[in-house]
Amino acid sequence: MASRTSSVLQLIFYLSVVCGLLLFFDFINTKDIIGVSTYNKAVNISSRLLSLYEKQEKERQRSLTQLTNFSFIYSYNEDQLPEQSAFGTNFSNPEWPRSICTDADVNRCGEKFKNVDTRYRVSEKYNTISCIIQKNMSTMLQAIMCFLFDEDKFLASGRSLNMEAHEGRFCLNKNEFSTLKYMTKKFNVTMDILKTWKYLLIIRDPVDKFLSGFVDKCVRKTRTETYCNNCQSNLTCFVLTEYDRIMNSSYGRVSHTFEDKHFFPQNWHCHFESELERYQLIRYSNNPLHKESFIDNLVTALKDSNVPESSLAYIKEQLVGGRTYHVTADSEARAFYEKRLMSSPFLLEYVFRMYYWDYRLFGFELPIINQE
Ligand SMILES: *[C@@H]1O[C@H](CO)[C@@H](O)[C@H](O)[C@H]1NC(C)=O
Ligand SMILES: *[C@@H]1O[C@H](CO)[C@@H](O)[C@H](O)[C@H]1NC(C)=O
Ligand SMILES: *[C@@H]1O[C@H](CO)[C@@H](O)[C@H](O)[C@H]1NC(C)=O
Ligand SMILES: *[C@@H]1O[C@H](CO)[C@@H](O)[C@H](O)[C@H]1NC(C)=O
Ligand SMILES: *[C@@H]1O[C@H](CO)[C@@H](O)[C@H](O)[C@H]1NC(C)=O
Ligand SMILES: *[C@@H]1O[C@H](CO)[C@@H](O)[C@H](O)[C@H]1NC(C)=O
Ligand SMILES: *[C@@H]1O[C@H](CO)[C@@H](O)[C@H](O)[C@H]1NC(C)=O
Repeated sequence: MASRTSSVLQLIFYLSVVCGLLLFFDFINTKDIIGVSTYNKAVNISSRLLSLYEKQEKERQRSLTQLTNFSFIYSYNEDQLPEQSAFGTNFSNPEWPRSICTDADVNRCGEKFKNVDTRYRVSEKYNTISCIIQKNMSTMLQAIMCFLFDEDKFLASGRSLNMEAHEGRFCLNKNEFSTLKYMTKKFNVTMDILKTWKYLLIIRDPVDKFLSGFVDKCVRKTRTETYCNNCQSNLTCFVLTEYDRIMNSSYGRVSHTFEDKHFFPQNWHCHFESELERYQLIRYSNNPLHKESFIDNLVTALKDSNVPESSLAYIKEQLVGGRTYHVTADSEARAFYEKRLMSSPFLLEYVFRMYYWDYRLFGFELPIINQE
């Protein structure tokens, strides 16, 4: 009886959160779209851009409903998780994550360096090249590179970094390349000169990236009946199947589904086997404590490329105060899945094994896991 009452209360609570947020979005929807930044307030936004923003806003509202539908989320995640390792790892030792993938065990972990989906975004003006890896912060970096491609045009169009999404982006096919060779042709420079440009990379904590991708692709936006390896929003199922997919692609033919693009290791992109050492890495994680140092590192790196103070100030304004990053639409669903993953060594081990080389190559520490 008591638990029934509390779940009714919980439901009422979630419903009122949803209603409140919907009202809030309705409010900013009409008020806030024009004049998105102090830097381009005076600009009139074209009706095409306005309808793009309205579409984005509707999508955001739909996402919110989906991400706070806990009866839906729970229904996919009721399975009891095994306590023993599927690989024979001894979980009693809190240092266990650091003992996996050593010696012959490396064959039970994702391989390093494959060539999937490389996307460069370039600012010729500042001799800066960045390689973007799905998703979130890469959307921001893509927008920044577009802005730096031509600041005046970008601002005059009424766009802003925060509102810029992948779909309908301003720089589509303008500063976008899949190989360095195309760049040498387009900019009429030799490869030797291109090598002296600045290479920037935003790299994300592997577990954080996995969770963010899962919530975004497998919970928020459910595309087809068989989405997310036919697991829908079932985390256990998705972890197990994605591990298999990564292992198959590691030691066999590399597959290329929609999910693969988003969940394959970061080190499989950007031709890192030969180009990784050129990059300045900027590490990113969802942890709000890291946000400030992330912004500082990014702004400092752009400063090194001689991006002027006025442009840096705009980028900083957008990163600090951005609406996209205030709207933590995914926070509750994210918290649920994060707790489920982080409290299960069984699941975590699969994730560590998938992204072992991301940890090694990009300088993220494998954590110490204390069992309660
Ligand atoms: C924006 O539109 C208004 C009304 O149509 C017009 O008066 C104003 O001059 C325009 N501003 C710019 C910067 O084009
Ligand atoms: C929540 O999910 C359930 C089960 O999928 C669905 O029947 C219901 O309509 C959803 N509720 C909302 C508010 O979308
Ligand atoms: C697992 O590790 C714990 C603590 O390190 C140790 O006491 C225990 O004997 C180990 N179990 C096995 C089966 O190796
Ligand atoms: C990630 O992107 C999605 C969709 O674009 C957005 O809803 C979400 O708020 C973003 N999350 C973070 C942490 O920026
Ligand atoms: C490309 O650069 C070379 C050497 O700087 C120059 O001689 C040539 O005219 C340039 N070609 C074009 C199409 O700009
Ligand atoms: C989720 O997936 C796991 C592993 O495939 C399965 O054992 C479990 O029954 C699934 N849970 C639900 C609720 O479908
Ligand atoms: C992995 O490869 C094996 C052997 O070729 C195949 O049976 C299995 O279905 C593949 N798994 C996935 C998830 O692609």
